[in-house]
Amino acid sequence: MLHDVSVLLRRGRVVEIETDDDTDGGEDECENVECDGLIAMPGLIDCHTHTTFAGTRVADFVQRLGGTSYTAILEGGGGIHTTVQATRMATTDELTFLTTARLEEMLGHGVTTVEIKSGYGLDLKTEGRMLEAARASSGPVEVLPTFLAHVLPRGRDRDEYLRELLDVNLPALAPLAVAVDVYCDDGAFTLAETEAILRRGKALGLRLHVHAEQVAHTGAAALAARLGALSADHLERIDADGIAAMARAGTVAVLLPGAMLYLRDICPPVAALRAAGVPMAVATDFNPGSSPVNNLWTAATLACLTMGLTVEEALAGITRNAARALGRSDLGWIGPGSAADIALYAPPIGEPPSVEVLVQHLGGTRAEQVWKAGERVL
Ligand code: NIG
Ligand code: FE
Repeated sequence: MLHDVSVLLRRGRVVEIETDDDTDGGEDECENVECDGLIAMPGLIDCHTHTTFAGTRVADFVQRLGGTSYTAILEGGGGIHTTVQATRMATTDELTFLTTARLEEMLGHGVTTVEIKSGYGLDLKTEGRMLEAARASSGPVEVLPTFLAHVLPRGRDRDEYLRELLDVNLPALAPLAVAVDVYCDDGAFTLAETEAILRRGKALGLRLHVHAEQVAHTGAAALAARLGALSADHLERIDADGIAAMARAGTVAVLLPGAMLYLRDICPPVAALRAAGVPMAVATDFNPGSSPVNNLWTAATLACLTMGLTVEEALAGITRNAARALGRSDLGWIGPGSAADIALYAPPIGEPPSVEVLVQHLGGTRAEQVWKAGERVL
């Protein structure tokens, strides 16, 4: 952490970090913004979300508290399928409105880049509308849309649907997305199906992510590493082979403490990931079912408290490593050449200005100022 510095921004980039002594007034054309007492962070990056959706899953929450499992609800036609029904019924304008409002809230926490997955349409038309709504919502918050092969639609023949996904839906939707993701799990896609979808996506020029090893151990993390995916996400049930494969390939482990908490799940093997040198990111997994959490600071704090990350790992997880999970080396740091994405925070009342204190306090952190690509957006 640097103290008493000035950050010089020009044309959407950070040009220089100056200690106050060498601010020589040679930059007369500069507009000066006073940030006394504030803590500057790189604009935060939420690298795994399902922000575009309609409807509610409050009934699942109550059912799960009563002891029914996430997979049992899903296989009974609820869970994700409930959100699919509501999302299919919503207009594109409604989806855009909901997404925009949710991003506005995230911006208030200092989040400047958000990955958003489709996956609540399951048919060509609604998946396309979801991706369009996510793209249309890209205001001050930059949106990176991902096509998500989430689950098989109810009542469809498995092989026929898979054919359609590979031959029709993916090629048609690839231009609307920057990445493809597959939920490889019990109640969703098998490992072989996941491989076929990822390979097709890769051939279409998309980046790869995988929902891996969440409910069941499937080998999806090792597959992700083998295919050059940017990230494998969740990882509650990853094994030693999966960890070794991710370490070799440099695949980012995206940890999602919101889903772990809401599903009252076991913890991913963080110590083993750390020991193997796997880069770790932290994201909200914001969605109406398994993680109704849209505050990335909350996810960072929970990653420390429930998963055992250090404060430094949590901070890297919502900045540098989150950028890496999205393939964006310009984001997640502040220095000459980085994007001029900066969030400024006041410490909690009565606390000294330190970055640690922003992680220590659960969920309360709102930004005082936010800059995206050199523009003040909050
Ligand atoms: O990342 N696990 C699968 N997919 C989402 C959950 C989506 C939902 O429950 O609506 C996840 O947790
Ligand atoms: Fe997810």
